[in-house]
Amino acid sequence: MIAANWKMNKTIAETQDFVSEFLPLVAGVEDVEVLVCPPFTALSALSLALKDSRVRIGAQDIFWEGRGAFTGEISADMLLDLNCRYVIVGHSERRHIMGENDLIINRKLKATGLAGLTPIFCVGETLQERENNMARDVVGGQLEKGLQDIPAGALVIAYEPVWAIGTGVNASPEDAREMTGFIRDCLGKLYDRHWASGVQILYGGSVNPANISAFMAQEYIDGALVGGASLNPLDFAGIVRFKSNV
Ligand code: PGA
Repeated sequence: MIAANWKMNKTIAETQDFVSEFLPLVAGVEDVEVLVCPPFTALSALSLALKDSRVRIGAQDIFWEGRGAFTGEISADMLLDLNCRYVIVGHSERRHIMGENDLIINRKLKATGLAGLTPIFCVGETLQERENNMARDVVGGQLEKGLQDIPAGALVIAYEPVWAIGTGVNASPEDAREMTGFIRDCLGKLYDRHWASGVQILYGGSVNPANISAFMAQEYIDGALVGGASLNPLDFAGIVRFKSNV
């Protein structure tokens, strides 16, 4: 899976321009699952623009309640209305800028699963945590607390070291493989090994057309979550077509 996280970028017109340029560039790519997560305001236009394509759409966040007095929030049913099948949960920008903690993320993951949406659950350590040799403890804790009391179901994990997001400094493919292997082991312990072996684990953090092949060549890495480089149709198509870069 190659997933785009547009963050707080693109108006409806910019979304439509992106799709017109992007789709011809990835015509014929059949063995990669492509997902675009635009801001909420562009979901409807994106869903319409992609209706005859294999590209899927996802949301960048969700609220755990079904309806009611929650100003500014968006529920699972509202996302399903717009043909969303995926939702990013626990992105480090929401953890660090919006103050989301493991409990909030756990509620969001529960609501996502109950509604039949597939979460892209983001985990990752800060630079300081990595330098203090705490990367495994931090990521293991995020998984355990985030997934508490949630039955095995549709799940995608994105390993995104915080220091690699939007910095141009990507994790080395070997470090990313080491951490994604660790994540698979954790899932095996929290649930069972057989189920864990089927969970897609993505790497995210300064992925671009030049480095994607090295990540995809690693065992345990099943795809990428792409921020900055997903905003440009040519760059994102270059990432989706990583097999022709090899
Ligand atoms: P980046 O962002 O590709 O710009 O580093 C990745 C992400 O935040 O998902």
